[in-house]
Amino acid sequence: MRSLLIFGLILSNFSVIDAFKIGAILREKEDAHIAAAIQYAVEWLNQRAIYGQVDFVIDYIDVLDHYEAVLKACSLFEKDHVVALIGSSHPMLNAQLERLAAQMDIPLLTAVDDLGLNANTDVRIEFFPKAQLFESIVDLFRHWRWNRITIVYEENERIRRIEPLLEDDAYSSIRFRLVKIQNKDYMRAARDVKELEECSFYQRKDCSEFSRILLDLNPEHAYNFLLAGLQMGLIELKHWFLLTSMELSTMDMELFRYNHARYISPYPVDPIFLKEKAHVFNFSHFKHHIAENWNTRTGFSRNLKLTEAIFTFDSIYAFASVFSDVVHSQSQLVHDIPQTTCRKPGREARKYQYGRTLIDAVLNNKVVGISGDLHRVGHPMKSNFSMRIHLLGYSGRLDDIGFWEPKTDVHVNMTGDSRAQLQKNVQVSDELKPHFRVTTIMERPYVMLKKNHFELDANSKFEGFCIDLLAELSKDLGFTYSVHLVKDGAYGNDVHGNGSWDGMIGEILRGEAEMAVAPLTVNFKRAEVVDFTKPFLSLGISILFKVPDDQQPDLFSFLNPLSWQIWMAILTAIAGVTVGMFVVARITPYEWNLNFSCCTAHQPHPGATFNADSEPVQLSNNYSFWNTLWYVTSTMLKGGCDFGPRAVSTRLLGGTWWVFTLVIISAYTANLAAVLTVSRPFIPIKNLDDLANQSTIAYGTIKGGSTMQFFQESRIGSHVRMWEYMKDRDVFVKDNTQGVLRGIRENYAYLMESTSLEYEVQQNCNLTQIGGVLGSKGYGIALQKKSEWTDRISRQILLYAKRGIIEMKKTKWWRSKGASCQGGGAVKQQRFSLSFHNVAGLFIILIAGLLFGLITVIIELLIRSRQMAKKDKKPIVNEIRDELKFALNLNKPTEHRSRQKTLKAAETTNGQTVNGK
Ligand SMILES: *[C@@H]1O[C@H](CO)[C@@H](O)[C@H](O)[C@H]1NC(C)=O
Ligand SMILES: *[C@@H]1O[C@H](CO)[C@@H](O)[C@H](O)[C@H]1NC(C)=O
Ligand SMILES: *[C@@H]1O[C@H](CO)[C@@H](O)[C@H](O)[C@H]1NC(C)=O
Ligand SMILES: *[C@@H]1O[C@H](CO)[C@@H](O)[C@H](O)[C@H]1NC(C)=O
Ligand SMILES: *[C@@H]1O[C@H](CO)[C@@H](O)[C@H](O)[C@H]1NC(C)=O
Ligand SMILES: *[C@@H]1O[C@H](CO)[C@@H](O)[C@H](O)[C@H]1NC(C)=O
Repeated sequence: MRSLLIFGLILSNFSVIDAFKIGAILREKEDAHIAAAIQYAVEWLNQRAIYGQVDFVIDYIDVLDHYEAVLKACSLFEKDHVVALIGSSHPMLNAQLERLAAQMDIPLLTAVDDLGLNANTDVRIEFFPKAQLFESIVDLFRHWRWNRITIVYEENERIRRIEPLLEDDAYSSIRFRLVKIQNKDYMRAARDVKELEECSFYQRKDCSEFSRILLDLNPEHAYNFLLAGLQMGLIELKHWFLLTSMELSTMDMELFRYNHARYISPYPVDPIFLKEKAHVFNFSHFKHHIAENWNTRTGFSRNLKLTEAIFTFDSIYAFASVFSDVVHSQSQLVHDIPQTTCRKPGREARKYQYGRTLIDAVLNNKVVGISGDLHRVGHPMKSNFSMRIHLLGYSGRLDDIGFWEPKTDVHVNMTGDSRAQLQKNVQVSDELKPHFRVTTIMERPYVMLKKNHFELDANSKFEGFCIDLLAELSKDLGFTYSVHLVKDGAYGNDVHGNGSWDGMIGEILRGEAEMAVAPLTVNFKRAEVVDFTKPFLSLGISILFKVPDDQQPDLFSFLNPLSWQIWMAILTAIAGVTVGMFVVARITPYEWNLNFSCCTAHQPHPGATFNADSEPVQLSNNYSFWNTLWYVTSTMLKGGCDFGPRAVSTRLLGGTWWVFTLVIISAYTANLAAVLTVSRPFIPIKNLDDLANQSTIAYGTIKGGSTMQFFQESRIGSHVRMWEYMKDRDVFVKDNTQGVLRGIRENYAYLMESTSLEYEVQQNCNLTQIGGVLGSKGYGIALQKKSEWTDRISRQILLYAKRGIIEMKKTKWWRSKGASCQGGGAVKQQRFSLSFHNVAGLFIILIAGLLFGLITVIIELLIRSRQMAKKDKKPIVNEIRDELKFALNLNKPTEHRSRQKTLKAAETTNGQTVNGK
């Protein structure tokens, strides 16, 4: 015994001794592909001769005679000393063999989808990527956002696999409908599918013109179903079939490929392996070998499952490579002929002594096979296994359109497939349209959350002007989108000045979004790093300010219609006219009369007729100082007076005064009504310059926004002054909402963009816009630099502007949505009092009248004095002096001869009288 051992050791060092045998219990016809794969793999391994000598034994059984299968398997273990068993393509048979293998720790390598029919032992090593297949299918649903899927299946076990889909909340937005093929009645199933597609009236909302069907069938059944579908008219442009069998490339699709329906299937072959091993492994040769064997054994059955052959090949490849590793690394005598026996009545099973080691090693293998990563330990979604995605599309050609991998889901590019369709201008379904991730920012009324946004999905929970615009563009230009809010809540600023942008611009630059649809101002710096479309809204900077609280008219508001300068001027005018009138009336000789009444002034005084020569009649002058004052005020206030001017000079002056009072009173009356109705007090600023020139009202804008940048960079004096004021103070706000709030609560003027301001003023009547709009800029849609969509979107925006769609949307969101200040808002910003220069002309007329009166009175005096001088034979100069002395009350009236009048001398009106009252 001891010597034998030594002999064996020596032998192992000298010859290719790590030979092993694998066995399989298969069915003659249905497992022909497995048998062919085993044969091919073993030959391939032996050809390469680096994995030792591999042998295989295949025993065939009749259809599903499980007892015979067990007997034959036992014989494989006991007589042929196989160290591993390869599973068949029948899950139930595998389960049977698995129980047997578990008694002896013989690894069972399976390559088929067990549909849940397994014995749950640890000797079974599954090479079929069940979990990954399921996950890739679900990820495809998600990637294309399918929301109505018809599942067609035949075996009841299949439904178990999709149970998680039907029950999980994560898929609640998808409507699944199940169609089971019963009794191989494919026509009926196809008809059921067709009926389900017809949108009944009440379901119209989630009803798409395009229909998506998941064919959870084996290749043969799938073929039969498609054939029935062809007769039912399902095979046409609007149908997408997703096949779970992974056999799209081997199926005979000749009948179905020309009708523009689309067929998609995952495909587990790793192209990197085929490329790297091209010199040793000929994949088309392998396929050919399998198909040839299959066809001769089965007589061209359509149920060939190439993937099972691939996984069988991979399982043997992995096992062989592990086996030789174990032999070399552990120097164990793994190559000892195993002495396993099955359990029989009265005898325990004898385990294969290295079975455990091998099973662990196979599970942990690092081998990459035709299907890629063959590592089978740990969570399936953490493995490096990936799937290619095959598409048989519009062009009728089978294309590899991308891949799926557990970590990053689906990466497919269907532009190649859709191009042909787009060129023919055929309606395109959403999957084929380019998809954009759109970043945006919450700002009323551009982007807002709907009231019931909790129950809505990411795209439909927003509403607003920008969201409408985006939907419109997507409909007309043919793209799909998913909206998200910018993470840092900023618009986009080169914060450190070194090209590390934040906000929406940053997301576009970092590739986290393709598009920014938001109230994003186009400016020079941003346009250097991203592309902007033509602006969809034009705007400028304006001032938002709170309307001061309502106030009752104060006690003296009747003074408000005229400015205080005018009131002063009127008082001065009254004084001036009074003095002027008084002087003129005293000097002019024609104001000395017999009577007091202006009504009878033209008639001789009754007394004059009686007191003939005896007493000189005393003539009097109506215009004493106080009388003049009374005359001036009462004519001004339309009080009237019982005397009126008689001389040309006084009439001239009086007339001018009447004109003056007429206009002033009318202006006052007209203005009074307006001033009393406008009870709101005035706002102390009228425009940006006013704001710059004062310091009582604080003002500011959004930090980092384009308005701030505007002031920062402007070279205009008042803007520089404003920036000096703003930059060191706490006047900046985070967003418009806060700015508006601050404007309401504090004495704060908020500088904001005119369109947003317009909206805020509509929403809150307590706010108003001050001054006009400064500057001119626009909101544009930002895209990645050199995007081919910039031009297309620009053109569409111009078209919308032309058709008035933009204006319509603006009206919709600015005016009708909960706007409370319809049309109002504009408040008089200033008390409307007449200022001095409005009426300066009147005062000029008045002064002119005064001067004319004085000139006239001088002429009157001269005429009179000449007459008197002639009569009295006195020099005219003396006469004038006497007249003036008398008029100015320097002499006693009795001394003044010319004012004494006798009736005899009364051809003209003259006389002597005491002065005044
Ligand atoms: C692969 O096998 C096919 C036949 O199955 C053969 O035509 C082809 O030349 C082979 N390719 C290489 C690289 O050997
Ligand atoms: C997947 O591959 C990467 C490198 O390609 C490797 O670092 C990682 O460990 C692999 N993961 C698994 C589970 O094999
Ligand atoms: C998609 O494929 C087309 C050609 O079929 C190619 O021009 C385009 O660049 C691809 N797109 C991506 C994102 O890979
Ligand atoms: C820019 O500067 C900031 C801070 O100085 C730094 O964090 C960032 O990495 C810089 N970015 C680039 C692109 O250099
Ligand atoms: C503001 O002040 C500047 C100089 O202090 C002056 O030139 C300008 O006219 C003022 N503007 C207004 C509207 O008062
Ligand atoms: C406007 O101001 C008045 C008085 O301050 C207040 O009662 C009213 O609620 C305000 N309106 C709004 C919409 O804020």
